[in-house]
Amino acid sequence: MRSVKEYNSPHSTTADITGHDLFREEVIRGLQSHPKYLSSKYFYDKRGDELFQQIMECPEYYLTDCELDIFSNQTHELAHIITAQAVAPFDLIELGAGDGTKSKYLLQELLHQKADFTYLPIDISGNVLTQLESNLSDLTNLKMKSLQGDYLDMLGEAAAMSSHRKVVLFLGANIGNMNRLEAQLFCESVHRILQPGDQLLIGFDLKKNPQTILDAYNDHAGITRDFNLNLLERINRELEADFDLTQFTHYPMYDPETGACKSYLVSTVQQTVTMGDHSFRFNEGEWIFMEISQKYSIKNIQTLAAQSGFVIERNLTDQKNWFVDSIWKVI
Ligand code: AVJ
Repeated sequence: MRSVKEYNSPHSTTADITGHDLFREEVIRGLQSHPKYLSSKYFYDKRGDELFQQIMECPEYYLTDCELDIFSNQTHELAHIITAQAVAPFDLIELGAGDGTKSKYLLQELLHQKADFTYLPIDISGNVLTQLESNLSDLTNLKMKSLQGDYLDMLGEAAAMSSHRKVVLFLGANIGNMNRLEAQLFCESVHRILQPGDQLLIGFDLKKNPQTILDAYNDHAGITRDFNLNLLERINRELEADFDLTQFTHYPMYDPETGACKSYLVSTVQQTVTMGDHSFRFNEGEWIFMEISQKYSIKNIQTLAAQSGFVIERNLTDQKNWFVDSIWKVI
């Protein structure tokens, strides 16, 4: 495996200061807003990564199993949709690759078919990329180059790096962390970077029995609650705030009409939280909006694809029909 890491070392001082300052600024802006909010992209520190791993193992959290079902049982189909395009070499770019468990099925199949491609995983975390590289180290013929940074920045870099056809993977219903408008703007941005004939595969969690969805974000073991509270703990740790975690309760909700699954942390008392020179007042019952996990119907997905300049080539669903990997082409 050829592996070239072209990114700032996670230990680089300047990168740390910049990231840290941005985190502080965004937290201040969110907690000074009405209503208060924090960005779920900050869930994933070391502890947050561990908690998310545990969420994926919860019996209630069906998403990972559903997408794994698609990748493990329709691997051949999936590879065919990608390679049927042309024999020319292509770049397989993955946004937020994680540990690569799902993509590995596809990578193995493509290697087996002797497809000529380079795998370019993009992640904001250098840690995750190192982990991924070790998980894929047995794929000896894989041409791979990890890119650390923002999805769109790195996608632009990948586009500038080679003129090969691009196939972009955005799995795990990560698009759900954007609201409908943000998702459309994101897809439009991806479209602007890609060329006609390029493909985009997005994993969407589908609308289903509302109780099934709510349960997935309200597990009995309380791991999702801890996952949310961990962001307050992270703010205490990294930004020297003094959140009292016992004074906040986790409130998840799902609205079947809009498909928005949202989670909040609710202050159970009137209190003031301080962070350096700043203080944030909470009324009793006041909430912080923490995360959206948007659910889609097939119709919603068709609209999103059309509005952002793509045509849907195929929708691959799991056996329960709860999740879809939708394969789009740039027109
Ligand atoms: C990683 C964004 C797909 O929204 O389902 C899991 C994160 N949050 N449980 C999701 C998450 C609470 C997850 N994504």
